[in-house]
Amino acid sequence: MNDYQQFIANVKKKTGIDLAQYKEAQMKRRLTSLYEKRGFKNFHEFFQAMEADKKLFHEFLDRMTINVSEFYRNAKRWEVLEKKILPKLLAQNKRLKVWSAACSTGEEPYTLAIILSKFMPLSQVSVLATDIDENAISRAKIGVYPERSLQEVPEEIKKKFFTKEGLHYKISEEIKKTVTFKKHNLLADPFDTNHDLIVCRNVLIYFTEEAKHALYHKFNKALKPGGIFFVGSTEQIFNPGLYGFETEDTFFYRKVQ
Ligand SMILES: C[S@@+](CC[C@H](N)C(=O)[O-])C[C@H]1O[C@@H](n2cnc3c(N)ncnc32)[C@H](O)[C@@H]1O
Repeated sequence: MNDYQQFIANVKKKTGIDLAQYKEAQMKRRLTSLYEKRGFKNFHEFFQAMEADKKLFHEFLDRMTINVSEFYRNAKRWEVLEKKILPKLLAQNKRLKVWSAACSTGEEPYTLAIILSKFMPLSQVSVLATDIDENAISRAKIGVYPERSLQEVPEEIKKKFFTKEGLHYKISEEIKKTVTFKKHNLLADPFDTNHDLIVCRNVLIYFTEEAKHALYHKFNKALKPGGIFFVGSTEQIFNPGLYGFETEDTFFYRKVQ
C-alpha cells in the first residue's frame, strides 16, 4: 500500500469517509498542497498530526469537501425549474417531497424554498437538505452570507427574504423554517425514497466514474415514478436510459422506470 492508499484507509477508519471514491489526482493535489503548507512531508506524517490536532483535522475536512456555493447558481437552470419543471410536478402532486443533496452552506436549499414559495404558502414548503460536512451545515443554519453569494438573486427576492447586516445578508426566518438540515454521506448512508425532486449539484464531479454510476442508480430508486433529478451545469448524464431516466431538459432527468 502506498502512502496515499494508507492515508485513505486511515481516514476511512477514523471518519467513515471513503476518499477512494473521489477522483484521485484532484483529491491528492488538494490534500498535498494542504499538508505541504502545514510543513509535513507525506500523508503518513499528515495523518499522525491530524490524530493529535483537531484543528488540523477540521482543516483537512474543509479542504476535501469544497463548499463553494451561491444562491441561484446557474440562474437559467433555476428558471427552467420554476417555469417548466415545478408546474408539471405540481400538476401531479400538491405537496412535493424535495431533497437538496450535498447542500453545502445552504444557498441551494434556500433557493429551492424561495422558488417553491411562489407556488404555495410557505407553511407547505418543506425541503430536506443534507451534506457530509457538519461545519457547512452549521453555517447553513445560521444563514448569513456575503454579498457575492447573492449576485444572482433577483432584487425583489433580496428585499423580500433577506435583511442586510453590515456587509452580510441574513436569510429570513420564514424561509429558514422550511428547510431541515441533516448530516448525510452520499457514498455511505441509505437514501430515503419517494421524492418528487432531488437536487444534487456540483458534487458528483468530484467522484470516480464507478461511484457516480452507483449514485445515479441510487438517486433513481430514491425518486417517485415521474420524479425529477436536477444536476449541476457540468454534470450532464450521457446515457440517462442506463439508470432509468429520460432527459426532461438539459440537466433535468425524469425517472421513467
Ligand atoms: C461544491 S459544493 C456544492 C454545493 C451546492 N450543491 C451547489 O451546487 O452550489 C459540494 C458539497 O458536497 C459535499 N460533499 C462532498 N462529499 C460528499 C459526500 N460524500 N456526501 C455528501 N456531501 C458531500 C461537500 O461537503 C460540499 O458541501
